[in-house]
Amino acid sequence: MRLVVTGAHGPLGKSIQAAHSGLHPRPGPCRLAGAELIPVDVPDWDITDPDQVSRLADVKPAVVIHCAAMTDVDSCARNPELAFKVNAFGTQNVALACQRANAAMVCVSTNEVFDGTASRPYLEFDATHPINPYGLSKLAGEQMASRLLHRLYIVRISWLFDRGGNNFVSKILAGADQRGQLQVVSDEVANPTYAPDLAAAILHLIETEHYGIYHLVNKGHCSRYEFAQEIVRQAGRGDIPVHPITSDQFQRASTPPAFAPLDNTVGASLGIELRPWQEALGDCF
Ligand SMILES: NC(=O)c1ccc[n+]([C@@H]2O[C@H](COP(=O)([O-])OP(=O)(O)OC[C@H]3O[C@@H](n4cnc5c(N)ncnc54)[C@H](OP(=O)(O)O)[C@@H]3O)[C@@H](O)[C@H]2O)c1
Repeated sequence: MRLVVTGAHGPLGKSIQAAHSGLHPRPGPCRLAGAELIPVDVPDWDITDPDQVSRLADVKPAVVIHCAAMTDVDSCARNPELAFKVNAFGTQNVALACQRANAAMVCVSTNEVFDGTASRPYLEFDATHPINPYGLSKLAGEQMASRLLHRLYIVRISWLFDRGGNNFVSKILAGADQRGQLQVVSDEVANPTYAPDLAAAILHLIETEHYGIYHLVNKGHCSRYEFAQEIVRQAGRGDIPVHPITSDQFQRASTPPAFAPLDNTVGASLGIELRPWQEALGDCF
């Protein structure tokens, strides 16, 4: 059995490779333990190039985990055409290759498909209503894949973090070192999600063959300000002052949804739950 990971050089793609290589045969069925994982990424596997992507079918994958995306939300806001080219049409190309190969697909998506006006975390079946080009292009990708494939998992996530790399955790620590104090928005709320926890959950989900929409995030939610406070505390830098500011005081090209945490109810019903984000952050350090 073959498993293909697109966007394999990104943090999620790398974590999926690490989680897969750590899989051990265990009692009971474990379809993935002996599976061969094939990582693909730009420049050889550009998802916006239909000819390159159609070669995916030649690999004869059983499952394609589609992580490739344009994820810089501000770049998406500045260049919505490119965001749609990569996140919508690129995802359609991958879904078409899955259709040709009779492969299942995991389409990794985002909490930014919601508008952030809810008064509780979003459930898997809540109505979507993106408010920025990144969210619009990712939702278009979900919809294009849904129209082409029956064996599809849509996995929405938010605020991915990991050890190293360029993410919120590393940016907060770099800012603390450079400036000795931090100003962080307190009116944007979501779920910090630890890439290795998410990768393990995605592999578990594939084992179930329960296709559908999932919200796979670490348990609990917080504002970016609260996340930053916990990062400096757990990094032993609790002496660094963290000041709350509003989104209006932090100019950026994209408008993020204000309150867009995800509730994992469908995954939990299958026993797929991620631990509290604070605990995962502890492991990250
Ligand atoms: N990171 C988050 O906080 C977050 C939150 C919600 C949802 N997600 C979703 O989770 C998934 C994985 O996120 P991530 O942070 O691991 O992503 P990422 O690192 O930004 O991107 C994944 C990989 O895709 C590649 N890529 C970009 N354009 C491509 C193209 N046209 N063809 C093929 N590959 C291309 C990137 O290459 P380059 O680095 O060279 O561009 C990168 O290696 C994405 O679907 C994203 O939308 C992420």
